[in-house]
Amino acid sequence: MARFNNHRILITGAGAGIGALMAEEFAKQGAEVIVTARRIAAAREVADRIKTAGGKAHAYVLDVSKLASIAKFRDKLHEEVGPITALINNAGVVFGGEFEQVELEQHLNTFRINTEGLMATTHAFLNDLIQAKQGYLVNIASASAFVGLPYGSTYAASKWAVVGFSESIRLELDVRKIKNVDVTTVCPSYISTGMFDGVKTPLLTPMLTPEKVVKSIIRGMLKKDSFVIEPPIAKSTELLKAALPRKIWDEVAYRIGVSTSMYSWKGKK
Ligand SMILES: NC(=O)c1ccc[n+]([C@@H]2O[C@H](COP(=O)([O-])OP(=O)(O)OC[C@H]3O[C@@H](n4cnc5c(N)ncnc54)[C@H](OP(=O)(O)O)[C@@H]3O)[C@@H](O)[C@H]2O)c1
Repeated sequence: MARFNNHRILITGAGAGIGALMAEEFAKQGAEVIVTARRIAAAREVADRIKTAGGKAHAYVLDVSKLASIAKFRDKLHEEVGPITALINNAGVVFGGEFEQVELEQHLNTFRINTEGLMATTHAFLNDLIQAKQGYLVNIASASAFVGLPYGSTYAASKWAVVGFSESIRLELDVRKIKNVDVTTVCPSYISTGMFDGVKTPLLTPMLTPEKVVKSIIRGMLKKDSFVIEPPIAKSTELLKAALPRKIWDEVAYRIGVSTSMYSWKGKK
C-alpha cells in the first residue's frame, strides 16, 4: 500500500519504540522518512533497516531538549533533503517516583523534552506543513493527559500541556483557514515499549502493543481524526470526570488502579 507516496515524514525519537516502528510502517507505505534520534547510531540502525527493505530513509541526530538547535537542524535538512510534509512529535521521557525523591533536573528535563521540545520542533517545521499539498502534524501525548498521575506528576503535566498546545494549533489553523494541514493528538495508555516497565495497568486497560498503537495512529491520520485515544475505554475518562463529583472520581481512579499504576514503575534499564 502506498498511502504515503510523495510524503516526507520527520519523526522525533525514532531510534526506538513506537517512533522506530512508525518510521518502518510509513516507509512501507511509500513515504521518505527522516529518522531522528538523540544518538546517530540508533537513527542509522532504523534507517538502514528501512533501506534494506527497499524503502527511503535518512538518519539525523536531533536532541529535542536542545531547543536552539532545532531551527538549525531544519535549515540543514532543507539544504540536504528538502522540506517535510509530515511531522510526528514522538520523543518523550518519564521519570517515575515520589515527587520530591526524583531529581528536580529530571522533572524539568521531562518538560523540556515532552513539551518544550515538541513546541520548538513544531515551530521550526509548521511552515513546511503549511506549504505542503497535504500536511500532517501528529503530537504524541498520553492517556495521562486526562487524569492526575501520582508518581508521574511531571510526565502527566507535560502531556496535559501537549494536549492543550496541539488542540490550540489545530483550531488556530482552522481559524486561519489553513485546510491542508491535519493535526492529530495521540493519547494512548500504557504501551509495552519498556518506557513504563513495572507499572500495574488499571482495570480494563490492558498493556497496548506498539503495533496496535502505530496502526491506530496511521488510521487516525488518514481519517483526519483530531484525537486518537487507545484503548477505546480511555475515551470515557473525560466524560466520567465531568459527570462525577470530584471525590467520587478520585475514589474510582484509585479503585480501578489509575492512581496507583505508577507506584511500581521501573522504566527502561
Ligand atoms: N510507552 C507508553 O506506555 C506510552 C504511553 C503513552 C504515551 N507514550 C509516548 O509515546 C512516545 C514514544 O514512547 P515509547 O513508548 O516508544 O518509548 P521509548 O521507546 O522510550 O521512545 C521514546 C523515544 O524518545 C527518545 N528521546 C528521549 N529523549 C529525547 C530527546 N531529548 N531528543 C530526542 N529523542 C529523545 C528516546 O531516545 P533514547 O532511546 O535515546 O532514549 C526514544 O527513542 C513518547 O512521547 C511517550 O511519552 C508512551
